[in-house]
Amino acid sequence: MTGKTLLLVIGGGIAAFKSLDLIRRLRERGHRVVPVLTAAATEFVTPLSVSALAGEKVFQDLFDLNDEAEMGHIELSRAADLVIVAPATADLMAKMANGHANDLASTLLMATDKQVLIAPSMNVRMWEHPATQRNLETLKKDGILISGPNEGDMACGEFGFGRMAEPMEILAAAEMALNDGPLKGTHVLVTSGPTHEPIDPVRYIANRSSGAQGTAIAQALLAQGAEVTFITGPADVPPPMGVNLVAVQTAAEMLDAVQNTPNVDVGIFAAAVADWRVASASDQKIKKDGKGLPVLEFAENPDVLATICASTARPKLVIGFAAETQNVIENATAKRKRKGCDWIVANDVSPSTGIMGGSENDVTLISNAGAEDWPRMDKSQVATRLAEKIAAALNG
Ligand code: CTP
Repeated sequence: MTGKTLLLVIGGGIAAFKSLDLIRRLRERGHRVVPVLTAAATEFVTPLSVSALAGEKVFQDLFDLNDEAEMGHIELSRAADLVIVAPATADLMAKMANGHANDLASTLLMATDKQVLIAPSMNVRMWEHPATQRNLETLKKDGILISGPNEGDMACGEFGFGRMAEPMEILAAAEMALNDGPLKGTHVLVTSGPTHEPIDPVRYIANRSSGAQGTAIAQALLAQGAEVTFITGPADVPPPMGVNLVAVQTAAEMLDAVQNTPNVDVGIFAAAVADWRVASASDQKIKKDGKGLPVLEFAENPDVLATICASTARPKLVIGFAAETQNVIENATAKRKRKGCDWIVANDVSPSTGIMGGSENDVTLISNAGAEDWPRMDKSQVATRLAEKIAAALNG
């Protein structure tokens, strides 16, 4: 992405110090950051440090005649490609939701014709307060983008939701908002990783899956401008930044999460879902009590992919995966028909291929046009090629 101009409104909260790092991160990516400080923000960070890091003049006052002569506040609000508010305090959110314009920051936010991304930051009680939650809903309806807040320890000593998102998360959300790739406006759901089916509180059964291919696919889709909902079981690789993340454990939870994701244009089912679960998992740890080996009775898990393909909310493009160890093309072709998906990405996961847990993949894409054999390549390259093919199919 080529460098963009970002208007960064820094509100008066303890997380304002993290906005200094955000400025650095944004500039590292080649973006220009024009900073605006609220009066309260200057209690937490100094205009000098903000200006030095941004390499720009800091705007603070609505009635500064010098500023108005150089660049009026209306012009300032329009000159950016994106407006970021970090930290967005409860007070700033309330002002935005109610249309107040009584200082430079709130006036810019009213006057801008650009997208606005806010990173809320406040005490957990303030975040959970009905007034803040009402304001949040209003802001969402107004099309304001939200990054965070996260759950964790707070500067005030309490624990809960209200911590400002990390600079890298805000950066990812900003770049997603700025991205005008071919999948902009497309909502893609990706399932990834294994599922864990409990035997008892300490034991489980699972398929082998690192989550690497699903994660790479989500990243490639983000790079093409898509909005991505990433539903993942307990994978080895960390989930990508910038997705709507839903973490699940079991196949039943994965199905539930998929069914609760509305307005999906494309569904990609890369998860290695366990086909069976233990029919009645024990609430207590099963002990070696000398009465012989435990006998586990299995029940069949729901097939997430097949269920979605048969549902009335079926996305217009559904892509499944087929992990096979023999007769790959034949089995995957039959699987595509059986499950009712449009494309299937088939791969040979026999241990000798080194694909499972490795960085490369060797796939065949099966559609109603037949089987397309892709050369062996990096999982990230498979992901990019798949994302490009999806963009071509939707836009073609
Ligand atoms: N899948 C799913 N839910 C399941 C099982 C599989 O959504 N309970 C999806 C996978 O995410 C993948 C596709 O179905 O996209 C095929 O998965 P795979 O494990 O290859 O096939 P299975 O359905 O398990 O069939 P088999 O065990 O006969 O190979």
